[in-house]
Amino acid sequence: MLNVLFVMADGSKVTAQAEPGARLLEVGQNAGMPLEGTCEGQMACSTCHVIIAPDWFDKLPAASMEEEDMLDLAAGVARTSRLSCQIELTEALDGIEVRIPGVSRDMQIG
Ligand code: FES
Repeated sequence: MLNVLFVMADGSKVTAQAEPGARLLEVGQNAGMPLEGTCEGQMACSTCHVIIAPDWFDKLPAASMEEEDMLDLAAGVARTSRLSCQIELTEALDGIEVRIPGVSRDMQIG
């Protein structure tokens, strides 16, 4: 088991436990994070966008070109943004800190 620390847009923190090999998207969803993951990992939606704490970002395998392209379309992207459906958790990532982007849907209307 490894721990994942989710930081929500309002600053509240939720620690979730995951098995090695689990996908970050599912771990987040199971912990009640607002990650839609509409395309279920097909890299066609970017609704699974998260921002990884910089210290942890460097420990992740690099994003593929397809992932980078999708991130270009996501709202509120940061330097350490990733698609959570593309991140497989391993023991080495125990304690990883993941921020949920705070995108207000209202801002997209009009
Ligand atoms: S779930 Fe659609 S890109 Fe990750």
